[in-house]
Amino acid sequence: MENKKVYIETLGCQMNKSDAERMYGMLEHIGYTQTENPKEADMLIINTCSIRQLSEDKAYSQIGVWGKQKKSNPNLKIVFAGCVAQQGGKSILKRAPYVDLVLGTQRLYELPNLVKRIEQGEKIVSIDEKPYEESDIQINRVKGVNAWIPIMEGCNNFCTYCIVPYTRGRERSRKPELILAEVKKALSEGFKEITLLGQNVDSFGKDLPDGQNLAWLLRKINAIEGKFRVRFVTNYPTDITDEVIDTVIELDKVCEYFHIPMQSGDDYVLKKMNRRYDYATYKKICDHIRSRVKDVTITSDFIAGFPGETEEQFENTLKAMTELELDYSNTAAYSPREKTVAAKWVDLYIPEEVKTERLARLNEHNRACCLASNKKYLGREMEVLVENFEVRKNGDKVITGRTRNNKIVHIPCDRDLTGEFVNVKITNAKTWYLNGELA
Ligand code: SAH
Ligand code: SF4
Ligand code: F3S
Repeated sequence: MENKKVYIETLGCQMNKSDAERMYGMLEHIGYTQTENPKEADMLIINTCSIRQLSEDKAYSQIGVWGKQKKSNPNLKIVFAGCVAQQGGKSILKRAPYVDLVLGTQRLYELPNLVKRIEQGEKIVSIDEKPYEESDIQINRVKGVNAWIPIMEGCNNFCTYCIVPYTRGRERSRKPELILAEVKKALSEGFKEITLLGQNVDSFGKDLPDGQNLAWLLRKINAIEGKFRVRFVTNYPTDITDEVIDTVIELDKVCEYFHIPMQSGDDYVLKKMNRRYDYATYKKICDHIRSRVKDVTITSDFIAGFPGETEEQFENTLKAMTELELDYSNTAAYSPREKTVAAKWVDLYIPEEVKTERLARLNEHNRACCLASNKKYLGREMEVLVENFEVRKNGDKVITGRTRNNKIVHIPCDRDLTGEFVNVKITNAKTWYLNGELA
């Protein structure tokens, strides 16, 4: 088989990163090897994200650079994949005629067949919303400690600001036997932490036989032999079941960590966002989890400057963040996305400078919450899974890892203990991380 080189540039979330690992895996089977250098590649793939305008713009500016590269190397193949591809379809070929293949998110597993065709000179747009069946585990995962494994894809929620239901299609579960095989393979390759991935992990199993749900899957995975950890992201607040909370409490491998995006702390804004809860309901869920799961970390996502958001409504978000003692939050200024409901409320758009200023205040609150959260662990002994070893410029040798509840810890250590579990005494708490000593 001839040896060709492929380079993939991934933007966006973990789902895209996971898709990239799958693309490398599939392409390896048809004679491609991975390269880190786009200049020496025979095929360039951009794996795009359209969550905000900025991420979409990034995709087009990158592809422009590759278009120029193709002028000096006409045999170069360019693939435009991911969420912008699913949305843009044919229009991408108009905008970037040097692209050979537009690959929608639901056609991921069709890639090897399509590559063979573009190699013959065809130009193809494959964005059918009918998912292309996954056949076997073809995955080329970068060796490491943390393996991200999708368990479901798509979203049925249609929050009014969000493009994901349009780019990832309707909710569907991966076959449990494929997930379990992939978990076992990752563990046999030395991975120590499995993160189950989905836009709404609580929806896993809704399209499977009765009894097969997230809690069931966690129990199956926990029963696999060996020392390792399991996490899951993202939860939809009102979909979290007691059964899942039970697994976190009962199962030794399932970690004390929930990512539960709240988006806004204001009831009116939440309604306009089409989120199916109000502040009191979210608080109840949060309090319930905290009362049951010791040392649990709860993180969230928030949007500043949603169309029509008043100063008072925004302040309710700040209040919520502090009152709920959220351990960390991702934050973003609202970005209008084509096709979504809220994007049509042009008259209600919040001016850029107001959005920027609100985002800054949101971030300030977030920093205070993070620091307060980290300080809770001062003096405590915690289990850390080491992910990295570095020798710093000043000669200090440091290992870095995470606790079960997802706190980053830096520890002075002479040896590279990557992939090992160590007990650490927490000696210092900063905003974004903890310092500790080997206990
Ligand atoms: N499924 C998850 C989130 C997926 S998108 C959930 O239900 O919350 C990740 C985050 O991007 C969202 O939580 C939201 O905070 C942010 N986001 C989505 N659309 C956005 C937009 N148009 N502008 C700004 N942020 C957005
Ligand atoms: Fe987007 Fe809402 Fe679906 Fe999350 S639940 S992916 S925010 S539409
Ligand atoms: Fe992820 Fe961006 Fe798509 S956040 S699902 S890559 S729009």
